[in-house]
Amino acid sequence: MIHIKNAEEIAHMRATCSLAAQVLDMIAPHVLPGVTTQRLNEICHDFICDHGAYPSPLNYYGFPKSICTSVNDVVCHGIPGKQVLKDGDIVNVDITTLLGGFHGDTSRTFLVGETSDKAQKITRVAHESLVRGIGAVKAGATLGDIGHAIQSYAESEGCSVVREYCGHGIGREFHEEPQVLHYGKPGRGFRLRPGMVFTIEPMINLGKPDIRLLKDNWTVITRDGSLSGQFEHTILVTENGCDILTSLNGHV
Ligand code: MF3
Ligand code: CO
Ligand code: CO
Repeated sequence: MIHIKNAEEIAHMRATCSLAAQVLDMIAPHVLPGVTTQRLNEICHDFICDHGAYPSPLNYYGFPKSICTSVNDVVCHGIPGKQVLKDGDIVNVDITTLLGGFHGDTSRTFLVGETSDKAQKITRVAHESLVRGIGAVKAGATLGDIGHAIQSYAESEGCSVVREYCGHGIGREFHEEPQVLHYGKPGRGFRLRPGMVFTIEPMINLGKPDIRLLKDNWTVITRDGSLSGQFEHTILVTENGCDILTSLNGHV
């Protein structure tokens, strides 16, 4: 069942999503060569708790940390730890907050110091993939329209879309229906209605789309070792388009 949120629920979603967005803005200047992913985790954890919220990933199906940090060929669900970020890395920081009983979910890929053309390309294409996906959202459009917008753009750039993980409905639960695939055909899938809230979070690889799960049972990496980028927003469907709930300034 796809939940249609009422005005009160949407007000809660705005609050939690705004906090998640603030966390990303807050952490941005800390993402520098020499910092450990564990330090980024600590700073975000404290900021989220200081704002009366809970970091949703912590203990979610046993996930051991408060944020995900996915470096270079890590596609998603990287676990913060001793790894020191170095000049030339890219790192996705994925923030999910639980505030007032509702989850907000957003992520961004950061360039660390001086980066290669490849690092810049995958980050740019991953971001534009999210922009294209959001551009397809309006009442009456379908989930397939979103997936197609993302897939056709990413592949036209010579990049590939990871198939095993997708966007998701979000609200009182971290992951709700529907699944929002980042590939697809125009006109296919569920039709979007005002009041639906879901994430779009395409994982885009510079090489092949195939992935592998590490033995920690969380970390997902590209099989061919190529770089992977990801951006995520939580989106509210409106009559005329959508509202990006995890954007503080209207920018994607
Ligand atoms: N934030 C991720 C998403 O976008 C999910 C992380 S689940 C965790 O859906 F357990 F790894 F935190
Ligand atoms: Co998500
Ligand atoms: Co997320």
